[in-house]
Amino acid sequence: MKKDSIETLSSLTRTLHWCVAIGIFALLGVGVYMTDQKDYSLYPIHKSVGFLFFWLILLRVFWRMVNGWPRPTLDSHFSKKEHTLSLIVHWTLILSTLLMPISGLLMSSMGGHGIYVFGLEIFPNNPDPSNLQKVLPLNSMLAGMGKNMHDWVSSILMAAIALHIAGVLKHHVMDKDSTLKRMMGIPSK
Ligand code: HEM
Ligand code: HEM
Repeated sequence: MKKDSIETLSSLTRTLHWCVAIGIFALLGVGVYMTDQKDYSLYPIHKSVGFLFFWLILLRVFWRMVNGWPRPTLDSHFSKKEHTLSLIVHWTLILSTLLMPISGLLMSSMGGHGIYVFGLEIFPNNPDPSNLQKVLPLNSMLAGMGKNMHDWVSSILMAAIALHIAGVLKHHVMDKDSTLKRMMGIPSK
């Protein structure tokens, strides 16, 4: 498998970056909408898509470990502080994309709701014997931890994405370097 170089990012790096980015935007949007509007019909879709994206996110983390972080393009100029900030943001993005599905799976499985991917049972729900329309938590403490983590990490992730996009725009519009072009498959000089 071809690795990243300073001039080009491999097609795997680019495909994983853009697929995970689109998935995360969609899951954040649907997640906020469904909880705000109490639209419970969207929960199974959110959970199913989140579960499937988890595998892509795991592959991305694995690829990052094998491949290392992209090095700054040769035409980019930045201070040491800016470079440290970009590393912090990249780490926050990678770790939060990992923690979101993990906390979601913990909240749903331990809350007794189970995990079903478009109807396919991954983890069974736990119906309340006295009212089969309801479920009983398997472990309220772990379910609560998952819920709090899902809530907190989603806010951290949104802030990191805003910083990330601001950083990319700074490179592209102000510095006019090839950071964004390289992520779009155009080799940098
Ligand atoms: C990268 C993946 C995911 C992202 C970005 C994401 C994002 C969100 C966001 C922004 C919310 C609304 C606010 C909040 O409670 O945090 C939410 C709610 C929720 N998510 Fe996710 N989610 C992901 C994966 C999952 C997975 C895999 C599951 C379960 C299998 C899940 C289950 C839920 C549930 C049950 C809620 C509603 C919580 C409530 O009613 O308070 N999510 N998600
Ligand atoms: C409009 C949206 C986005 C644009 C324009 C964009 C652009 C870029 C660019 C140009 C780079 C390369 C930076 C470098 O060479 O140092 C990059 C890297 C990265 N981006 Fe994004 N990005 C976007 C959304 C996202 C989202 C939503 C996430 C995560 C949730 C994300 C996570 C990352 C990570 C972790 C890296 C480090 C390299 C890697 O792991 O592939 N990006 N992005």
